Amino acid sequence: MTEVKRRVFSGIQPSGSVQLGNYLGAIKGWVERQSEKENFFCIVDLHAITVQQDPEELRRETRSLAAMLFAAGLDPDQCTVFVQSHVTAHAEGCWLLNCVTPLGWLERMTQYKDKVQRQESVSTGLLDYPVLMAADILLYDAHEVPVGDDQRQHVELTRDIAQRFNHLYGETFVVPEAVIPEVGARVMGLDEPRVKMSKSSAHIRGHAVNLLDDPKEMVRSIRRAVTDSGNEIRFSEDPAKAGVNNLLGIYKAITDRTVEECEEDFASARGYGDLKSRVAEVVVEELQPIRERYYELMDDVGELERMLARGAEQAASVSEPKVEEIKRRMGLVIAGE
Ligand code: AMP
Ligand code: TRP
Repeated sequence: MTEVKRRVFSGIQPSGSVQLGNYLGAIKGWVERQSEKENFFCIVDLHAITVQQDPEELRRETRSLAAMLFAAGLDPDQCTVFVQSHVTAHAEGCWLLNCVTPLGWLERMTQYKDKVQRQESVSTGLLDYPVLMAADILLYDAHEVPVGDDQRQHVELTRDIAQRFNHLYGETFVVPEAVIPEVGARVMGLDEPRVKMSKSSAHIRGHAVNLLDDPKEMVRSIRRAVTDSGNEIRFSEDPAKAGVNNLLGIYKAITDRTVEECEEDFASARGYGDLKSRVAEVVVEELQPIRERYYELMDDVGELERMLARGAEQAASVSEPKVEEIKRRMGLVIAGE
């Protein structure tokens, strides 16, 4: 019997620039593990429009994120990268699942409640956001869903919807599991090493390394990183040493070395200046080829579109039959049957 690979489904919002934390905390791992499992990476533009977007900007961000994922090393021969709105099964699946999802389940979602507090006008799509996410996952019979901690509740809801559907209409869906990365994999802000480096603060000078920064800018941000008045270069839990710990963590994640090897590398360093220079060097070395490939792809729109069309076709070949199965279960007449 041939071994069936486990399915993994992940969704990524096309908003804001990709920063070093996204790269080291998520994308690099996807690239390294892309051959181990059957992976679907979906750029979730339909989720993005649950809050108001500038149309031109959304289009640009969607293409840009796709180019970035390919540039970082996701390989269309090994995994499926696609844009959610290119595969109509997602919106259709969402409607079908809406009809088995009690309204109260959605009104309880904490992300929804948070967003409602911060907005004047709330779209129906925002309330329905988790059902679309459930459709994303369930249409692929995904076993694993890698997400940040903030998405745990949405994956729980997906499990509840799957179980409810299976109970009402017979075994149809795999009940998926959330895979939450360990906290240790967090990259902190260069300007404030006790808060997570984030897209939303990426515009603040000196906070983040953005993957599209030019190398001089990257070096400048790292050289200006907040440290402390000491000179010991070691991993440490001490909050006062969070800056040095973060720089070492970045070095470790990029070079794939152990804690001991990293500390050994800096045993003869003369202070934090040396540490910063070396970290800047490995960051630039790692990101420079990605930047170059990114710009090549952004200049060759035809090639990027072909890659995305191929991804959409692969995704549709899994999710369209699944939508038919759901329809059949629910008693809809399938055309031609
Ligand atoms: P976002 O869209 O910014 O919420 O994040 C997309 C992915 O990047 C998620 O899987 C996050 O866990 C990961 N990520 C974002 N920021 C960081 C960070 N500072 N350190 C590690 N991982 C991060
Ligand atoms: N809601 C997720 C986020 O904001 C993105 C997402 C949409 C997703 N569909 C998904 C993540 C399916 C995992 C699986 O991060």
